[in-house]
Amino acid sequence: MDRPIGIFDSGVGGLTVAREIFRMLPGEDVVYFGDVARTPYGGRSSEIIVKFTAQDVSFLMEHKVKFIICACNTASAVALDEVAGNYRIEMVGVIRPGAEAAAEKTSNGRIGVIGTNATIGSNAYARMIHEINPEHKVFSLACPLFVPLAEEGYIDKEATYLIAKDYLQTMIDVDVDTLILGCTHYPLLKQVIADVMGDNVRLIDSGQETARATYRLLADAHLINTAASQQPTPQGEHKFFVSDVPEKFSQLATRFLDHPVDRITRVDISGY
Ligand code: DGL
Repeated sequence: MDRPIGIFDSGVGGLTVAREIFRMLPGEDVVYFGDVARTPYGGRSSEIIVKFTAQDVSFLMEHKVKFIICACNTASAVALDEVAGNYRIEMVGVIRPGAEAAAEKTSNGRIGVIGTNATIGSNAYARMIHEINPEHKVFSLACPLFVPLAEEGYIDKEATYLIAKDYLQTMIDVDVDTLILGCTHYPLLKQVIADVMGDNVRLIDSGQETARATYRLLADAHLINTAASQQPTPQGEHKFFVSDVPEKFSQLATRFLDHPVDRITRVDISGY
């Protein structure tokens, strides 16, 4: 199956998910869309997030993708179920894979979730975890400052530690043993979050879990590009599209993806 995988996000953060996909499925062609003109989604209303998500998906469908990954936690939490219902191809969001991993790995049944205001307000992670195991206790917390800190490169600055300590003290107080990083940007702050939470708390990277889930779903549906994966060094084609000028995306991509990206095309998303 040689059609590409589509990945979308509100902006650059979804590259933390794309990075895992490139690692696990190196032979796959990927079309990435980042809605940089309208980022962030995390403080917006459900109505707007649904509208934007529908447009993002519609754009990817034009590229004849075989499978769609909603890398954005906010869109996954608030809009994906509604939008995916209009299409035949399979779509995966980041909520279920992250929730499943946390529900399985917790020892004391106390799970923390951190994310944007919209993700936490939707209660999507808590609902999913309770579907898997109604006995688990879920503690949710919005940490909106983490997104700009990650984008500005405040990865291991003192200010970031102070903010993380302030936010996360409530998670320490309620004794979670597992904490879901429920936002595309938080893997960049993993070290700070790990230092604040301490050695006994396991961090769940929803992006990594989603890449694993994608691999399984593609394999089960016989959608893996087998011709490419049999090459000695499979190298799929990666195309990047953004809804505003590509410069900032290009700069941030190096941090979020570990390597620079060259082919970035600007599109007008309002027409979708
Ligand atoms: N991509 C978003 C998420 O994972 C974070 C940035 C935003 O608020 O749009 O929730």
